[in-house]
Amino acid sequence: MERRIYLDHAATTSMIPAARTAWLEQSQQSGNPSSLHSSGRERRRVVEEARESIAASLGTRPSSVVFTSGGTEADNLAVKGLYWSALRSRGASRIAASSVEHHAVLDPIIWLEEAQGAAVTWLGVDAVGRVDPAEVAELVADASTIALVSVMWANNEIGTVQPVHRIAEICRAAGVPFHTDAVQALGHLPMDLGSLAADAVTITSHKIGGPFGIGALLVDAGIQATPVLHGGGQEREIRSGTVDAPAAAGFAVAVEHAVQGQQARARQLVTLREELITGIVNAVPDAIINGDRGIGAQERLPGNVHVSFPGCEGDLLLMLLDAAGIDCSTGSACTAGVPEPSHVLIALGRDEAGARSSLRFSLSESTTPEDVAAVVAVIPGAVERARRAGAPASRVG
Ligand SMILES: Cc1ncc(COP(=O)(O)O)c(C=O)c1O
Repeated sequence: MERRIYLDHAATTSMIPAARTAWLEQSQQSGNPSSLHSSGRERRRVVEEARESIAASLGTRPSSVVFTSGGTEADNLAVKGLYWSALRSRGASRIAASSVEHHAVLDPIIWLEEAQGAAVTWLGVDAVGRVDPAEVAELVADASTIALVSVMWANNEIGTVQPVHRIAEICRAAGVPFHTDAVQALGHLPMDLGSLAADAVTITSHKIGGPFGIGALLVDAGIQATPVLHGGGQEREIRSGTVDAPAAAGFAVAVEHAVQGQQARARQLVTLREELITGIVNAVPDAIINGDRGIGAQERLPGNVHVSFPGCEGDLLLMLLDAAGIDCSTGSACTAGVPEPSHVLIALGRDEAGARSSLRFSLSESTTPEDVAAVVAVIPGAVERARRAGAPASRVG
């Protein structure tokens, strides 16, 4: 098979060998963790050890780890669960979230607004996609009406890191629940939840080298979250459904790897990221690097490069790179096969054509300088062809 250059690790990344071993080993055993017999108790032990390990890696309590099927479910549980709980306990009906959230946060909020009458405040962002904590402080001054605030730790498209510690402190001081989607941050940014005043944090396994189909909402046992899924009452009765013990075992190994290797990984990725950015800008001088241009790892995800190529349709560029053996992404959602302009770039103030002219390259520890050089070599020709094919049309309606 042809060797492909995979630069879409923010979409998903392959399992690390240690996680695969742990997952495979457990997949050969039977027993439901809720069953009372010995095999069931043995599966329960595997799940509880995974819970303890994840909690220890992230500086939180085992009782805070609620396993879900992934990031989307954890985000839904956080948004709907905290909202319903706040509405019932204190009549608070307003949700505030950044306008650059992933659809797994954005869409449940829109659904609550349209189907259930929630009031919503979308927090604006600056030109690099960052929320201003002062805006949050102003909003939570009227804390009694606010059910929750949700601001992602790092953006999946443009890589901008949010001031989540500051925002969390502001919310905590006002007594407003705060949720952060840490799906993209885990493994790339330092993560000690003991020093973060958040009430709920979303993580997922397949973005950090663990198996698909498992994630977690880290939510303190003292926080009321109304369940989205009802059934057998597993996971503190917040999330019913049999816990996938093999996946939990693999996930725990991946989280440990993600956290332990974070600093070295960030250093390696920042170097490659800057090489890729410099190479692209030299090859296509009018390319626009989206997101924060701080060259460190604190302001922008270390492995994220997000570029707009004026006059190009992002999807066409993606296919041209695909044909050249390079996997990347436009970064934005594709609804039923129809490419949508990125709501993140629209929030940054771009017009629709500009928002559809971008590519995201997301690197991992398996990325090499040769991979970066290969992309830089292919880009100018692909951009030229895409430009000849015509600029992205602005769609009406
Ligand atoms: C920021 C963010 N949140 C949530 C998700 C959804 O996670 P999952 O694929 O595990 O459902 C993703 C995946 O792209 C993401 O990037």
